[in-house]
Amino acid sequence: MRVGVLTGGGDCPGLNAVIRAIVRKGERSWGDEIVGFLDAWDGVRERRTIPLTVESMRGSLPKGGTVLGTRRGSPFDDPDGVSEVRATVDDMGLDGIIVIGGNGSLSVACKLHDEHDLPVVGVPKTIDNDIVGTEMTFGFNTAVQIATDAIDRLHTTAESHDRVMVVEVMGRHSGWIATQAGIAGGAAVVLIPEQPFDIDEVCARIVRRHERGRYASIVVVAEGALPKEGSFDIGRREVDRFGHVRFGGIGYLVAEEIGRRTGFETRPVLLGHVQRGGTPTAFDRVLSTQFGVAAIDAVHAGAWGQMVVARGPGVELASLEEAVGRTRYVDMSLYEGVAQIFFA
Ligand code: F6P
Repeated sequence: MRVGVLTGGGDCPGLNAVIRAIVRKGERSWGDEIVGFLDAWDGVRERRTIPLTVESMRGSLPKGGTVLGTRRGSPFDDPDGVSEVRATVDDMGLDGIIVIGGNGSLSVACKLHDEHDLPVVGVPKTIDNDIVGTEMTFGFNTAVQIATDAIDRLHTTAESHDRVMVVEVMGRHSGWIATQAGIAGGAAVVLIPEQPFDIDEVCARIVRRHERGRYASIVVVAEGALPKEGSFDIGRREVDRFGHVRFGGIGYLVAEEIGRRTGFETRPVLLGHVQRGGTPTAFDRVLSTQFGVAAIDAVHAGAWGQMVVARGPGVELASLEEAVGRTRYVDMSLYEGVAQIFFA
């Protein structure tokens, strides 16, 4: 078979490991030719490709980023977009395209399949871990480890100076990274998008902690966390040209409020894209490899309109329709039942 591969949306540690596994299984076991499209859907529409071979992917397993480049945006944004995608598939004699992407890219893949009968298979990707249908996305474990390492380092400096450190982590709609890194890093407070917070309560917890003689505190806040109505004003959030709210900044506002209301010296730390960069953890390399192998097998099974998903120890297939337009929120038994036990 001749199979196209693209990476779409934000990058994520493990993308190269997925591509490498697709190529390895495709070339060696199925005798496939794998074509890489550069810069997501732009590369499909403009036929910008590179050959992907076992040889060209050598050494890519531990590398962060994506050898294919990535973009946001969709062929549906342009009146000619879908016909250009179809023409590429037909003219290049492709049997299918594997789309490695997050909610946005998987929605596009689903629509191309359901409404335009294009042969696509999805691989769910995001450090946010918020895709419905899969118990885990690759990149998440790496992001949690990076955030935990940062929190560990912040503990020692916070304790030396008797400071409150507010650490902002990624997580637009769900607080998976915040919750897991908060538990792993021993945070005094974790704020997540799923549960609007009351700044008075946050400050009261930190004051209580100080009264008990703990003068340093770590507060972890997910970028998408919001104060309860009337709690405090965070102003307006900017929107980028794809309509995405531009996050990054709630940590500064929370730190300022805590400092102002409690009088404790409080510093913000925004981890930002550090969480998405660099080498994937061993866990993510394994999951990415499992996903890549399952994706090329799905192509050979003709499982169009499906995506590979982690379920238990293995990888299964699920309908793209099951995932798109929905968010996988933090399991409240983890947030309320475990993380909150350790809140100040
Ligand atoms: O969706 C993954 C993610 O890393 C989010 O956590 C974050 O809000 C967003 O991407 C950042 O996107 P960009 O790199 O386009 O600023």
